[in-house]
Amino acid sequence: MKSTVEEKNVGKSMAEEEINRGKPSADDINLRKSKGEEINFEEPTSDLAGLTFRTTTAEDYDDVISVRRHLYDGTDYIPYRYYELLEHNTGFAGFIDCTMVCFMFAAVIDDGRSIHIQSIRVREEYEGRGIYSRLRTFCLKKLNTTARKSVYVIESPTSNDQLIKKSVNLVFIRRSYTRNRITESLLFLKRSLKFESTKGTLRSMLGPRHASSLEKVDVHYLVDLFRDKSATQYLFPENIIVVYWIPYELVPSNIGRMFMGTKMLSSVTPIQDPNSKTVPPMISAITVDQCEAGSVIKLDLFGDISNEEIITDHIYTQLERVVDTCSEILILYIDVQQHVNTDTLQHVLSNMGWKMVYDDVMYGLEKYI
Ligand SMILES: CC(C)(COP(=O)(O)OP(=O)(O)OC[C@H]1O[C@@H](n2cnc3c(N)ncnc32)[C@H](O)[C@@H]1OP(=O)(O)O)[C@@H](O)C(=O)NCCC(=O)NCCS
Repeated sequence: MKSTVEEKNVGKSMAEEEINRGKPSADDINLRKSKGEEINFEEPTSDLAGLTFRTTTAEDYDDVISVRRHLYDGTDYIPYRYYELLEHNTGFAGFIDCTMVCFMFAAVIDDGRSIHIQSIRVREEYEGRGIYSRLRTFCLKKLNTTARKSVYVIESPTSNDQLIKKSVNLVFIRRSYTRNRITESLLFLKRSLKFESTKGTLRSMLGPRHASSLEKVDVHYLVDLFRDKSATQYLFPENIIVVYWIPYELVPSNIGRMFMGTKMLSSVTPIQDPNSKTVPPMISAITVDQCEAGSVIKLDLFGDISNEEIITDHIYTQLERVVDTCSEILILYIDVQQHVNTDTLQHVLSNMGWKMVYDDVMYGLEKYI
């Protein structure tokens, strides 16, 4: 069972309280080492003298959320999802004088070929001093894998000026070079649409439960689908499936992770494809996070988004399944291929009372190790 914040505080030992007060003593370090934590000290002459890194546990929840509050206009999922993510990722944090100054999650994916990085944050007063770069170096060393690249997604870059500059560079040059070696490249570029509504509006628009023709997608379904080249080419033309902002290669070992808090549905009637009898016209995946700004719904649609009937079935059915878990304010994110026509999608959502608040870009990036 997940620990709550209260349980965490009650469970804190006197020794741990001590650790949080001042610089770690040799005993503190031994205590942390005995708990399986890693310590890594900067040179005393460094600008960031005393910066230490270690992996995090459930006990670090309060510190992790204290690093950055109100991120992304209150849509940061970390306060809601920290414990769950910790089950499938490794949390990494940096400390100065026992204050957590940075945090990130990382996980090895793609049959060991990639390290997925997410939830990166550096305490505001420590930004721009290379702290995140050092945390990432520590993470890559600690994970000790044969992975040759880290992958990550930048969503809504407008929330961070620094990011825009960096992303724009990456998009235009597509690749950056260090001593003739490619160090970063663009994995994919998508359009990211954000909509807002309220639970009251959504309920009234959904009306009584409608009969859906969709079928549940589970692990076995995806294993079979990934074997079918024409199906995957049709549904995932970038040869990558992005679920809940995580870009995955189409390999079975990734499938379990794709269902973390996410529910998937598929259209039943297959497209008539001479090479395949199994191509569903659309698959959708929905994930809901309870955030500071409201319930943040992430809806991933794979397939042709020009068919009004198919889109409507997916959107209605998926939203019906989650509406009861939502708070009054609803924020909906949908990412689509960069050049597809979204008129039908926008029309369906507008008819349901959703107001589009932005149409932006989402960057999938890979950085070579
Ligand atoms: C983005 C942020 C983590 C950068 O931290 P920082 O300590 O100032 O970063 P550094 O001084 O180490 O320098 C920037 C490095 O971060 C990388 N970076 C910047 N934004 C990034 C992002 N969104 N995802 C991954 N890496 C990013 C840059 O590529 C650069 O790496 P390099 O040294 O290999 O070129 C920090 O500004 C922050 O917490 N912002 C608010 C939260 C946020 O936007 N997080 C990113 C989205 S998950």
